[in-house]
Amino acid sequence: MNRPPLVVANWKMNHTATDAAAFAERLVPELVPSARALSTGRLEVAIAPAFPALERLGRALAGSGVRLAAQNVHESTAGAFTGEVSAAMLEDLDCRFVLIGHSERRALFGDLDARIAAKLDRVLASRLSPILCIGETLAEREADQLEHVLDRQLEAPIALLRSRIEAGAESPRPAIAIAYEPVWAIGTGRVATSEIAQQAHVAIRRRLEAGLAPAAGQQIRILYGGSVKPDNARSLLALPDVDGALVGGASLDPLQFASIVSTCRETRLEPC
Ligand code: PGA
Repeated sequence: MNRPPLVVANWKMNHTATDAAAFAERLVPELVPSARALSTGRLEVAIAPAFPALERLGRALAGSGVRLAAQNVHESTAGAFTGEVSAAMLEDLDCRFVLIGHSERRALFGDLDARIAAKLDRVLASRLSPILCIGETLAEREADQLEHVLDRQLEAPIALLRSRIEAGAESPRPAIAIAYEPVWAIGTGRVATSEIAQQAHVAIRRRLEAGLAPAAGQQIRILYGGSVKPDNARSLLALPDVDGALVGGASLDPLQFASIVSTCRETRLEPC
């Protein structure tokens, strides 16, 4: 199976456009050892800045092979939605990826499962690749609810993907990636153990295989997110079902982010 690893920086509400340009200047030279893997698509790297930094960051990253991602998108094509951003606006800025359903959006901004499905529907019809974020809270984990939460969060997305594949609107190799981010590990410094991460990723993959088709489920990348740092990235990225990382806090520093990218390349790709 061919699942090129993907490392995504999620800057959340940090870094101005000016900061973003300075970040790119520091980052790009650090990625030279990964340049070949990036240019051939064997490794993918993206940065999701706040919306106002997208254009400037895109210019600063030109030619580096690092892609742009957005942190959010609205489910409508256009209209009277003050403060929102459409998929077409992101496409116009050469965004490649968009996060959907990040736990902070779910908890703070009313992105519940139905709305997330509507966003996903819109994005699947665009040229953007969605990164669907899922994961359980601490209370849900302690109540042994992981399987139930995964069922609930994946039910509508899988149904949507299946109907698109059946209608011929989606390639049998869907462009979607899933980010498993246990909420209790986000921004807390409390990273999932290898065992917890691998077990959750396998549970997600089983649902994808059963709900779509084994081949389609095998092709979908499942990223781990939640306190990924340079010193824990290797053990997480070495897990067979961890296809990359969604990095928050550590991605704000170009050297730390570059170190995670290098670890991903070394761990997931055979030496050329
Ligand atoms: P963190 O954030 O790496 O700071 O835990 C991850 C995320 O929210 O995507």
